[in-house]
Amino acid sequence: MSQYTNLLFEVKDSIGMITLHRPKALNALNTELLQELSNLLDRIKEDTSIGIVILTGSGEKAFVAGADIAEMQTLTAIEGRNFGKIGQDVFNKLESLPQPVIAAINGFALGGGCELAMACDIRIASEKAKFGQPEVSLGITPGFGGTQRLPRLVGKGRGKELIYTGDIIDAGEAYRIGLVNKVAAPDELMNAAKAMAEKILSRASVAVQLSKAAVNEGLNMDLASGIAYEAEVFGLCFATEDQKEGMTAFVEKRKANFSGK
Ligand code: HXC
Repeated sequence: MSQYTNLLFEVKDSIGMITLHRPKALNALNTELLQELSNLLDRIKEDTSIGIVILTGSGEKAFVAGADIAEMQTLTAIEGRNFGKIGQDVFNKLESLPQPVIAAINGFALGGGCELAMACDIRIASEKAKFGQPEVSLGITPGFGGTQRLPRLVGKGRGKELIYTGDIIDAGEAYRIGLVNKVAAPDELMNAAKAMAEKILSRASVAVQLSKAAVNEGLNMDLASGIAYEAEVFGLCFATEDQKEGMTAFVEKRKANFSGK
């Protein structure tokens, strides 16, 4: 189980389950929690027994209610930049983890919480979840990647509206604008996340991880460079046993039995 103060972590059936656990502050992200998450991600990256990660918040109310306002209250400009950078680095690490990450958003995902969810590959929200970037109401901008990831996910106009107004939207609206992939009843949330995780785990894992890298790296490049990158990862697949197995199984009209090699 867990050796962290602000996180719970367990691995079951190749799924790494991270639960952000700071109940007295609705799982708000302070420096200690961010450092623990960073350390845990370093561990997960090296652990080939973990094929996929689910990230959720503890308690009924919140996924993450934002960065820790009490910690930020007295920061100087330099300290603020450094705090933002800590979160940005952890979220970049999460986004570039080789394994896919599903956010199971059980409640409030505000500010840094929404930014954390956006650094995951796939977002599944409880009907009770609420989303927003309320930073301008506190006199700050989003600082854990929100000004960049939100417009990339929902488009520039909708992203700017959410950031400028600080409006809080419900799960249905988040689904409508493409901020979340799926909405589930609160008591079905974890089943929905696990079902998605199991489906992905049943596929060829190297191909899934190379697909993730191609999408992520490609979005940071011009189209021609991204297409060239895709050709390289596509070619790499033919060096895997799973490519042989996947195509042989198709030709033999049977289910593929992937080894992850
Ligand atoms: C620190 C927080 C917190 C936060 C909640 N708490 N959010 N502490 N940082 N972001 C604490 C409260 O102070 C309170 O502590 C306890 O959690 C329960 O919260 P309540 O407000 O009593 O709960 P409720 O009335 O149900 O309201 C829930 C809520 C509200 C709507 C989510 O807590 C809220 O508005 N939180 C702040 C949301 C926000 O503005 N997030 C963006 C932060 S800025 P006590 O001790 O009183 O019980 C950000 C910037 C990211 O994220 C980039 C940084 C670089």
